[in-house]
Amino acid sequence: MKFAFFDTKPYDKPHFERYGQENGVTFKFFETKLNEDTVKLAHGFHGVCVFVNDTVNAAVIDRLHEFGVKIVALRCAGFNNVDMKHAFGKIHVVRVPAYSPYAVAEHAMALLLASTRKIHKAFNRSKEFNFSLAGLTGFDLYGKTVGVIGTGKIGRIFVNICLGFGMKVLAYDKFPSKELESTAGVKYVELDELLAGSDIISLHCPLTEETQHLIGKEAIEKCKKGVVLINTSRGALVDSEALLAGIKSRQIGAACLDVYEEESDWFFEDNSANIMEDDTLARLISMPNVIVTSHQAFLTEEALENIAETTVNNIISLSKTGQCPNELCYRGGTAEDCKDGKCFA
Ligand code: NAI
Repeated sequence: MKFAFFDTKPYDKPHFERYGQENGVTFKFFETKLNEDTVKLAHGFHGVCVFVNDTVNAAVIDRLHEFGVKIVALRCAGFNNVDMKHAFGKIHVVRVPAYSPYAVAEHAMALLLASTRKIHKAFNRSKEFNFSLAGLTGFDLYGKTVGVIGTGKIGRIFVNICLGFGMKVLAYDKFPSKELESTAGVKYVELDELLAGSDIISLHCPLTEETQHLIGKEAIEKCKKGVVLINTSRGALVDSEALLAGIKSRQIGAACLDVYEEESDWFFEDNSANIMEDDTLARLISMPNVIVTSHQAFLTEEALENIAETTVNNIISLSKTGQCPNELCYRGGTAEDCKDGKCFA
């Protein structure tokens, strides 16, 4: 079976080549992202393998269907870049529901510690033999309250890491976890209570119509003054303009961002020789209390290995049995959630 692999990065290849060869799946690696202009490259392939910033909208799906492409294999968990309703009846969509939730949760904590202990500033100073401590005063995480929005696989691990630091946890989820509810130090609350009571807020819910700009002007006004916001989930959960305004007004004390609303134009690429045309991103990055990483929370050896293994297994399972536990349902859930058990007809 031949798959067109879009948005290839050097770190993707070794794992996919190895698992592909072992299982009879050949990947043709394209550096370009999948979109309306590049979809023609998928002609003649059984499937496409795509990542978070590839575009799988109605137009792209129609072209893939026209070419006889049968599978969209997402090598990520989030699927907000796929028009699931339009894909129904035309093409299978599979994903990697979890590759290393630890990688993302640990990155969220790494960002938080870097921010609160001003490691990013200290690193730059000591490179220039500037060993002054002025302006580097941080604060203890012990005893602070962290608000965790979305307590699925990643959110729960992040909660446990925070509990290990002696923090109190306020949690908010559309579907609270019974297990977490009974954990000492964790309290499920309504969103407004979480916003008002948290010193730190970390986002771990998916991007949906409902959660788009969950953290906007109104939500920011409800937060504690000086709150630290961490977003390792999806950029559009946060209204970037409102975030910038919140930082300028000092309502937001610091922001740790691994994702950004308009990241597909900039992230994952070396833009150091280009003029940054996104003024909001440029302004955010210029702030001393903002740390931006380029959607790298997932990037560990363990996660890359799991991503390649699960993606190849998804492809094999679908081609051999016509079914796959990681197939996405047109309603946007998983095959397991789908009551009639038929995600594709
Ligand atoms: P998950 O599906 O295990 O958990 C998501 C949780 O969010 C669930 O408990 C769900 O009930 C909750 N949720 C759904 N809608 C909600 C709403 N409207 N309000 C509050 N909670 C809501 O997903 P997982 O694996 O924990 O991943 C979370 C997110 O992390 C993904 O959706 C993805 O966007 C992001 N992610 C980011 C990565 C990175 O490299 N930065 C890598 C992997 C995932």
